[in-house]
Amino acid sequence: MLFILPLISYVSALASPTLVIRDNTNVSNSNITSNSSSHITTTRSSISVNPVLPAGGVNLETPASTSTTYVKSGSNVTFGWNFTSLILSPTGINVDVVCSANSQTYNIARNQSIETQSVVWDTGNAANDGKLHLISDKYTLIIYNADEPVSYVAGAGELEPFSYIFGVYLPQEYQAWPQAAKYVNAGSSNRFSLSLVLLAASVYLFI
Ligand SMILES: *[C@@H]1O[C@H](CO)[C@@H](O)[C@H](O)[C@H]1NC(C)=O
Ligand SMILES: *[C@@H]1O[C@H](CO)[C@@H](O)[C@H](O)[C@H]1NC(C)=O
Ligand SMILES: *[C@@H]1O[C@H](CO)[C@@H](O)[C@H](O)[C@H]1NC(C)=O
Ligand SMILES: *[C@@H]1O[C@H](CO)[C@@H](O)[C@H](O)[C@H]1NC(C)=O
Ligand SMILES: *[C@@H]1O[C@H](CO)[C@@H](O)[C@H](O)[C@H]1NC(C)=O
Ligand SMILES: *[C@@H]1O[C@H](CO)[C@@H](O)[C@H](O)[C@H]1NC(C)=O
Repeated sequence: MLFILPLISYVSALASPTLVIRDNTNVSNSNITSNSSSHITTTRSSISVNPVLPAGGVNLETPASTSTTYVKSGSNVTFGWNFTSLILSPTGINVDVVCSANSQTYNIARNQSIETQSVVWDTGNAANDGKLHLISDKYTLIIYNADEPVSYVAGAGELEPFSYIFGVYLPQEYQAWPQAAKYVNAGSSNRFSLSLVLLAASVYLFI
């Protein structure tokens, strides 16, 4: 009998038409559109989001997320994006670059306003810093809600952690990397591989 209660609450949760998310802020006239054309809101107070709506995502424009990108170590690389289906906007986002091969995490932006939809990664700075040793390998750009862990599983309209794999090469040792760059939303089937990247990064932190 004990298993029936959770089952009932699960079923009634399914039956309720909207998921209501509240916090302490008192905003009486939140005017929220649940339009997938990336309407960005600045508060998340008392907003009802239809649970069938997709999670919010990042649309990487620079470089095009469908292209294979190689970045020359020492250059400045710009990542530019906009958001899709984002209804419950984070107060800020973090932008990291993770290299699993050398267990490094480069913090490019911390709690950056969602209105600022680009970052510049100065790889020259990273390459010259003894602690941030750049190697020729695959790197993963990760954009995620600054108030949530990078492994966060986003609900409807919330920002899903985004990742994009690209290559960095040292000028003297360019080597084409055979696999095409992949553009993945971390929440989908690629979460496992992202977890491996992050696991490698966190192992580094505890050494
Ligand atoms: C919200 O605002 C209304 C009207 O200003 C006020 O009456 C109410 O007490 C406020 N509630 C909270 C939780 O601050
Ligand atoms: C919500 O937006 C619509 C269209 O912009 C406007 O007509 C309406 O008055 C707004 N409602 C509130 C409560 O601000
Ligand atoms: C979303 O917005 C676009 C343009 O603003 C409009 O053409 C489209 O009909 C809207 N979709 C919904 C579901 O409201
Ligand atoms: C990269 O940007 C930084 C900061 O704007 C600048 O100081 C540096 O010279 C740039 N490096 C290159 C290779 O353009
Ligand atoms: C996001 O970028 C795409 C591609 O440049 C563009 O077509 C679209 O209008 C942009 N969306 C917003 C909301 O700026
Ligand atoms: C990000 O900044 C906002 C204020 O702009 C603050 O409320 C929030 O706690 C900050 N989040 C983190 C993770 O620092």
